[in-house]
Amino acid sequence: MRRRLVVGNWKMNGNLADNAALLKGITTQWPVAGEGKGNVDTAVCPPFVYLSQAAQALKDSVVELGAQTVNEHDAGAFTGEVSGEMLVDVGCRYVIVGHNERRRMQVETDAQVADKFHAALQVGLTPILCVGESEQERDAGQALETIGRQLRVVVERVGLEAFEHAVVAYEPVWAVGTGKVASPEQAEEVHRFIRAELGKLGPQTQILYGGSVKPGNAEQLFALPDIDGALLGGASLNADDFVAICKAAA
Ligand code: 13P
Repeated sequence: MRRRLVVGNWKMNGNLADNAALLKGITTQWPVAGEGKGNVDTAVCPPFVYLSQAAQALKDSVVELGAQTVNEHDAGAFTGEVSGEMLVDVGCRYVIVGHNERRRMQVETDAQVADKFHAALQVGLTPILCVGESEQERDAGQALETIGRQLRVVVERVGLEAFEHAVVAYEPVWAVGTGKVASPEQAEEVHRFIRAELGKLGPQTQILYGGSVKPGNAEQLFALPDIDGALLGGASLNADDFVAICKAAA
């Protein structure tokens, strides 16, 4: 049986004081006293500058650490960038690659996302590959075509077997930060499609849903057979909400 995974993407939010309170709020409530983490793994992805702070705060906790992106190169003259080795060095286990905000605002191409995915695997990080269609693509009936392309570029770069050590997150662009969540039918259709695209790795790969997941809709999403957890934005900035969603996954 696939394990569940709930990941908080803090995006460009937080400061030392707020992070300390948020991490304390999470670690004092999760896992539920006396129950252990069971079938649910959890991680938070703070901004780079706060990774060490979070690593310190999480060192005795079951909550793991991830980063929001990684540079595709090992080292060198890449001003402002952070390598996979650096992320491992400060205690990361996961890294998000290909988030739609970076695909759009940092103009990351499918090929670059594939290189980042590869770079993450090279240093032993678990990449969380984000895929998802825009509203226009959905309206034009091109959702699966877009997601298929985003996936295939990565599969061609790293091979299908690499997904044994990776997570996929379906984040419809139109559902991120909008309060509009994909319907159970829309989400399940895409998750089933992704699983089929992953061939023999499909049945074992964790596929998360992301886009306006809140404590009020998490349970309905997690009840779907092909949804293994969530990639949270807004809800991950509130300890009670984050923990409520972890509990819904359990
Ligand atoms: P929201 O949960 O705020 O919609 O963000 C989702 C997301 O982008 C997580 O990576």
